[in-house]
Amino acid sequence: MTAVLKLGGSVVTDKEAVEQVDTERLERAADAVGAVHGRDRGDETTPEPAELVVVHGGGSFGHPNAERYGVTTSAGTHDDGAVRDIHGAMRDLNRAVVGALADARVPAVQVAPLSTGYRVGGEFQQPADAVAALLAEGFVPVLHGDVVATAGQGVTVVSGDELVTELADGLDADRVGLCSDVPGVLDSDGAVIERIEAFDDVADALGGSDATDVTGGMAAKVRTLLDLGAPASVFDLDGLDAFLAGESPGTLVASSYFRYGEE
Ligand code: IPE
Repeated sequence: MTAVLKLGGSVVTDKEAVEQVDTERLERAADAVGAVHGRDRGDETTPEPAELVVVHGGGSFGHPNAERYGVTTSAGTHDDGAVRDIHGAMRDLNRAVVGALADARVPAVQVAPLSTGYRVGGEFQQPADAVAALLAEGFVPVLHGDVVATAGQGVTVVSGDELVTELADGLDADRVGLCSDVPGVLDSDGAVIERIEAFDDVADALGGSDATDVTGGMAAKVRTLLDLGAPASVFDLDGLDAFLAGESPGTLVASSYFRYGEE
């Protein structure tokens, strides 16, 4: 049973500041993960395989640095200083996230997408072999939004959501969780939609099925999640314990196919 969990930049950083970790929220998230996936450190017996991969977003570390150099998921740069600055800021944040998880007894280890991920023809690829091998050895890999080599464009940004999608497929994950600062996918009245099985069901609430959403708003997110080979939950920090306990807090985005595979 493998789960891929994204902790959004809005969970782990103070988005109003520059390069500021939201220590309180990060610790809360790390403690929730530790309560389920924590274990004693230094035990030399072979551990059980780990069942969780964590991905975190950029928040006030990734976005201001990417903006400074005009780098997005589609606009690249060959400026090596930009690569060092954006990646360096994300590594700083990753160190804080991995550290908080480690303090919560999670066997968390850092994995940098820049080292193994790349984009060709606009498609992001993240080979999952090393991540799978770490899981098999009982480690919880922690990846992060980053910059990755992009054919003909230098580097472009890879978002945490893209990583989640690639890893869920590459690891054949059973569940996906997106934890951010919204309690779920909201309808036009601001209420959380409990379950989404087809985009057409929510197209109006999300701004229409034709909405061009290159910046990755909720409509694009829902479309991507519906295409995943695993059910995905969208929730906020209040829902994290429930997700880790195997429940579906917030909005469950899952094509009707999964209805038959749930029990
Ligand atoms: C952004 O990742 C990564 C960089 C800007 C380098 P995300 O787009 O997943 O980050 P959040 O969750 O929105 O902050």
